[in-house]
Amino acid sequence: MTSYVTRKTPGDTAWFTHDRFGMFIHFGLYALPARHEWIKNRERISEEKYDLYFKHFNPDLLDPKDWARQAKAAGMKYAVLTTKHHEGFCLFDSKYTDYKSTNTPCGRDLVREYVDAFREAGLRVGFYYSLIDWHHPDFPIDMQHPRRDDPDAFEQNQGRDMKKYAQYMRDQVTELLTNYGKIDILWFDFSYSNYNGTGDKAWMKGKGKDDWEAEKLIATARSLQPDIIIDNRTEIEQDLWTPEQYQPTQWMTHPETGELVTWEACQTFSGSWGYYRDEMTWKSPEMLIRMLVNTVSLGGNLLMNVGPTARGYLDYRAEAALAVYADWMKYNSRSIYGCTMAEPEFETPADCRLTQSEDGKRIYVHLFAYPFAHLKLKGFAGKIKYAQFLHDGSEVLFTEGKIDHFSAGKEKEEADTTILYLPDVKPHCLVPVIEIFLK
Ligand code: GLC
Repeated sequence: MTSYVTRKTPGDTAWFTHDRFGMFIHFGLYALPARHEWIKNRERISEEKYDLYFKHFNPDLLDPKDWARQAKAAGMKYAVLTTKHHEGFCLFDSKYTDYKSTNTPCGRDLVREYVDAFREAGLRVGFYYSLIDWHHPDFPIDMQHPRRDDPDAFEQNQGRDMKKYAQYMRDQVTELLTNYGKIDILWFDFSYSNYNGTGDKAWMKGKGKDDWEAEKLIATARSLQPDIIIDNRTEIEQDLWTPEQYQPTQWMTHPETGELVTWEACQTFSGSWGYYRDEMTWKSPEMLIRMLVNTVSLGGNLLMNVGPTARGYLDYRAEAALAVYADWMKYNSRSIYGCTMAEPEFETPADCRLTQSEDGKRIYVHLFAYPFAHLKLKGFAGKIKYAQFLHDGSEVLFTEGKIDHFSAGKEKEEADTTILYLPDVKPHCLVPVIEIFLK
């Protein structure tokens, strides 16, 4: 067994840290303007204009079974869908609002369809639920509210009652965790209690756990689904730390105790979560694989996002990105599932990432840059039983203690060196993996 112990949490994270790889799905009215899911905020779009998207919301080609099929092929084991994003629009038939998919030309409870399809495909299901709500009449205007720059923002804000909104969230979370069977993850988003207005906006206050009444909100969720995994974005620590749009360089630790924590990086294929037609910063295939490997090599999970088009399907770029994972995971998933950071006794060679199976018996060397002829390992001498490429199971020969080359210099005598002999040409695999069976 590997020796890593993570900080105890209230939910059940055992399946989660085994499965490692999930699909984030951002879908909502913002798929229509197709200019980022924060569009209402960024362009300060009026309710009247935004209502056009509500009236035209008709994802006629949306097939959650097809989403699930692609997620599964990519090697993803769970998914998290935006049941409501910051715009306030709900993809489920909530009885507490009219602002929901069932009241649009779409007419469908998309959460229901998503849950059924993903569960049927054998994937775990999670719900993202936005704490922020730019549509709800009781949500007070703040520095990131679309109405913040209206000349009459102060007047518009009169009578807004955060307590009512907090109750609304509890009611909706109750619906979500009662009507759809077992839900594995609840992903709240997000708090900004220090982000207060200044000058004539001084009355605009940031929001955090007290505003959300997060303690009650979490208690509501736990009473309905005790094992559910909840993120930390209410400002109350629960199960999950969620680094967003960056790659940690070490296993995340608790800021006070220094303990290792359960973490999940979330990332996009291009620069936006919601479908963004003209955004062009799509990550390269190699980067996609490296992000997954890098994450697991530091004991984390990766939640990769898709933003379906307004018609509900995943566009060709998202499909291609998922296919990159599918191709690689088909042969290499053994270095991901049930794997974690390698024990520190095994040194990571230059340009590589290591993972280790949780039972401690196998090490996976991921070659980010393909070396010529030899890969020199430290910390492995006397410990290797057998080595092979993971993608085709072909043997990788090795010697210990020296490079058996007539012109080898001082490396010849180095202690604790293991040399793996590699073919000159990189195998047909984006990131080749060497599987090492330990004695
Ligand atoms: C952010 C953004 C949001 C996105 C989320 C995903 O907090 O507000 O649009 O849903 O991150 O992590």
